[in-house]
Amino acid sequence: MGSISFSSPSMNKAEGIPYFTPANNAGAAANPESPDTPTLFRPLQIRNVTLKNRVIVAPMCMYSAESDPTSPAVGAFTDYHIAHLGHLATKGVGLVITEAVAVQPNGRISPNDAGLWQEGTESEQFKGLRRVVNFAHSQGAKIAIQLAHAGRKASTVSPWLASQRNKRSVKADESVGGWPSNVVGPSGGEEHIWASDDQFWAPRELTTDEVEEIVRAFARSAELSVKAGVDVIEIHGAHGYLIHQFLSPVTNQRTDKYGGNFENRIRIVSEVAAAIRDVIPTGMPLLLRISATEWLEKQNVAAQTGSWDLDSSIELAKRLPDLGIDFLDVSSGGNHKDQRIEPHTNYQIDLAGQIRSKIHADGQKTLVGAVGFITEAESARDIVQGAEEAHANEAMLSGQEPKADAVLMARQFLREPEWVLNAAKKLGVKISVPFQFARGLL
Ligand SMILES: Cc1cc2nc3c(=O)[nH]c(=O)nc-3n(C[C@H](O)[C@H](O)[C@H](O)COP(=O)(O)O)c2cc1C
Repeated sequence: MGSISFSSPSMNKAEGIPYFTPANNAGAAANPESPDTPTLFRPLQIRNVTLKNRVIVAPMCMYSAESDPTSPAVGAFTDYHIAHLGHLATKGVGLVITEAVAVQPNGRISPNDAGLWQEGTESEQFKGLRRVVNFAHSQGAKIAIQLAHAGRKASTVSPWLASQRNKRSVKADESVGGWPSNVVGPSGGEEHIWASDDQFWAPRELTTDEVEEIVRAFARSAELSVKAGVDVIEIHGAHGYLIHQFLSPVTNQRTDKYGGNFENRIRIVSEVAAAIRDVIPTGMPLLLRISATEWLEKQNVAAQTGSWDLDSSIELAKRLPDLGIDFLDVSSGGNHKDQRIEPHTNYQIDLAGQIRSKIHADGQKTLVGAVGFITEAESARDIVQGAEEAHANEAMLSGQEPKADAVLMARQFLREPEWVLNAAKKLGVKISVPFQFARGLL
């Protein structure tokens, strides 16, 4: 019997998954090279990886992994994560970043966080990640993993449990899978508790050997991530988690090689980046998320020590090419309870813009991501418009300097998973849509 053959790529079966689904590639502009296509819908090349557009799903903890430390599935991604991240991958984003994935068990924010510390490729953590990655790829999306260690903010219950007690956070003890005696930070003791002591545990100070082991843990998780097929790695250095705690002179009062002057405080970033670069392909992008300021500039707590501020971030940003970091994801805050955020429209986007402008003035090309309160297609478009032009001509060509090379969005994707498809419509950009959704979208 003869078979009917279709030349249309729409009939192509997606690779890497054991069932049929057409190989979707939603969110790619029909005509990315056209001058009428906004930069938002033009590809972004980072090393050997090309994002089909500049919309990135920001990392979002879902507190939905197994918490029982005796279960082989502790910390593993499940069908829930395929449904959640996979749905976003189907709906046309350029890159999906997973939630923070802990490189050590005590680096989880809550017992229900994801992790990638189990060894080998037969572990549930590895297999769970690989399934999520394979599904994202089948939908034409690139996927990044955010590697993290929560440091002194670890071992708390999931936010919805805390809110049942009208609190933003509640300590997790052993009865719910927590690890009170193994919450760690650059500096230890009661005075280093993040926020009030009924919400967080007092950290114990890490030894120098333990810091070195954490660096190796980041590299081990990165190596496994590569084996699982992830396209991009992001180091979580923001929001008062362990790496941020090391960066800040307020939370890092160590006297060894990881504390003291700027060089010593950023050592953990340099070592983590170098250790990751050693085990990932040269063509794989490496991203770093930081808090551009911890909003302590005018606070007493930083009067003696100084704080991690915008100048510190700019100084760090200038070193990123030497560290093998390609993209700086600019967030802010989260390291100290006395933080005083001065919010105004786009306050965090402006931080990204200032860093980008400074590093470009220095002739550097490290890519910058902007995040925070982005909800509208037009504002996302304006943030990156012109960013793909030759750097020197950017401002001249587009009339204003772009604030970033890509936008990251979190909460809007919880409200509107098909944001990219809707944004394309609003901006008049013709893009491909997922085949199965076409009747609802076209
Ligand atoms: C539910 C939720 C979970 C989050 N988890 C993470 C995380 O795992 N890692 C991280 O770096 N930021 C995390 N964030 C912060 C977001 O990535 C983002 O920076 C922040 O929500 C601001 O962006 P938005 O205004 O688009 O939501 C989380 C935010 C939300 C809403």
